[in-house]
Formats: sequence, structure tokens, C-alpha cells
Amino acid sequence: MTGPAAVQCTGVSHSFGPTRAVDGVDLEIHPGDVFGLLGPNGAGKTTTLRMITTLLPVAAGRITVFGVDVARRRMAVRRLIGYVPQQLSADGALTGRENVALFARLFDVPRARRAQQVRGALELVGLERDADRTAKTYSGGMIRRLELAQALVSSPRLLVLDEPTIGLDPVARSSVWDRVTEIRAATGMTVLVTTHYMDEAEQYCDRVALMHAGRIRALGTPAELEAGLGPGSTLDDVFRAVTGDRLDSDEGGIRSVRATRRTARRLG
Ligand SMILES: Nc1ncnc2c1ncn2[C@@H]1O[C@H](COP(=O)(O)OP(=O)(O)OP(=O)(O)O)[C@@H](O)[C@H]1O
Ligand SMILES: [Mg+2]
Repeated sequence: MTGPAAVQCTGVSHSFGPTRAVDGVDLEIHPGDVFGLLGPNGAGKTTTLRMITTLLPVAAGRITVFGVDVARRRMAVRRLIGYVPQQLSADGALTGRENVALFARLFDVPRARRAQQVRGALELVGLERDADRTAKTYSGGMIRRLELAQALVSSPRLLVLDEPTIGLDPVARSSVWDRVTEIRAATGMTVLVTTHYMDEAEQYCDRVALMHAGRIRALGTPAELEAGLGPGSTLDDVFRAVTGDRLDSDEGGIRSVRATRRTARRLG
């Protein structure tokens, strides 16, 4: 590999009071990869992402994004990153276009280029024809694609997506992933995504890290991890082998319902 890693985490930790949410994480993401951070509820995925995106201080260890130190050069790192948080960020009272334009202003896209960048981002996610309807009339999948457009409007080098497909039906899930794949191919962007859907990670991620109780338990391509365990293994088997735990618990269902309710509340 030439040049710096897209993301490099060395001995990164973070505690909330007595809870050690992230506990000595080492991680390297190669430029241009779609990298999946996988783990069950409470594994520490969101906390890790929030440190990488400068929203939480790095309590211990070091993180760089394309060689830039996250703790020392926060604003420079922010200009490299587009972030779609786990909680919804679209405003139901605004149109799709207005939502994306708001992010263009927030992220300092030069005024002269704003309208064009907004249009480009909406096209990348396939929302150009629905851009002038209010977001409260969008389906869950369209909302997720709108949030993707918000993160893309500043042309980031690193796109960070926290559970982009939670609460979506299978068709909407694959449409979000198809967009991510197309965007990566068109722009060469690096993508960091969390999910607890093993099948999605197997299909769409170049490399994955399996996280449990604040620690990375396995790291590699899905094929490498599966081959390490033996013929016919799935990522879910690997996860169980390294943690003694199941990844796809019933909680996913509960969370899906919660996420859907939250969408309804926010946009209704
Ligand atoms: N703001 C906070 N205050 C206190 N504890 C927190 C806070 N945020 C996270 N935690 C705790 O830190 C741990 C890791 O949480 P985190 O949200 O990073 O997990 P996650 O892997 O993203 O889980 P999920 O799949 O549910 O989104 C959990 O035990 C959680 O309860
Ligand atoms: Mg989370």
C-alpha cells in the first residue's frame, strides 16, 4: 500500500464512567475499501465511529485519518469525512433538496458550487426526481438514501455510515448497498460501515472487523476469516467461535421496530 491508511487506530480506548465501551482497539482501513465494523448491541461500534469522526475525544491511543491526527487536527479531519449517524438526521419538514443544501452550507461547500454539488449528491443516491417533495413523504429507504446524499455533498474522502440499513426491508437494504457500491466505484471513496447483518457484510465489505465488548476479536476479508475456521463456515460462525456468543440475536428485531418508530416520530 502506498500513502497513509484511510483510518489507523492504535490502542484506542474510551470509557463512560465505569463502562469500558472501547478497550484497546487496533484497526487499519485501506484507502478505497468498504470496511465493515461488525458486532452486537453495545459492542462499542458507535463509540469507535464517534472518535474517528472527532465527535468524541480519543481518551487513550491514537487515531489518524489519511495520516491526519484526529486529536490534534479536528477541523482538518472533519473536512475529509462524511458521516451518517445511527440516529436520523433528515428533517421531515424540508424537501430532499433543502435537506442536502443545509449540509452543503454546514460543511462549507463554496457557494458557487453548492447547487451543482447538491444536484450531484441527489443523483448519486437516485433521488433527483423526488428532490422537491418534503422528506416526511419519503419511505424509510428513501430517507436513508437522503442521509447518504447529505454526507456525500461535501465530496468526502471517507464516508462513515452507522447502521445504514437498520429497520429497512430487504429490497430497501439492497438498494442502499447498491448505491454505496456505485458511489465507491464512481469516486474511489473509502467507506466505513457498521452493521450487525452478517450477510450484508459478506456480500458488500472488502474487509471486516468483528467487535465484542469493546475489543476487536477478528480482522480480515470475510473469505479469510471463514477459511480460518474451516470449510463451509459463515461469518456468523466465526463470530461465535471468537466470542462464544451469537451475533444475530433477537434484539435486532426489537431494534428494527424501535428504529422504525423513531422514523415515524421524527418525520410524522
Ligand atoms: N453516552 C453514553 N453514556 C454512557 N454509556 C454509553 C454512552 N454511549 C454508549 N455507552 C455504552 O457504551 C457501550 C458501547 O456502546 P456503543 O453505542 O458504542 O455500542 P454499539 O456497538 O454501537 O451498539 P448498537 O449496536 O446498539 O448501536 C455500551 O455499553 C453503551 O451502553
Ligand atoms: Mg451503535
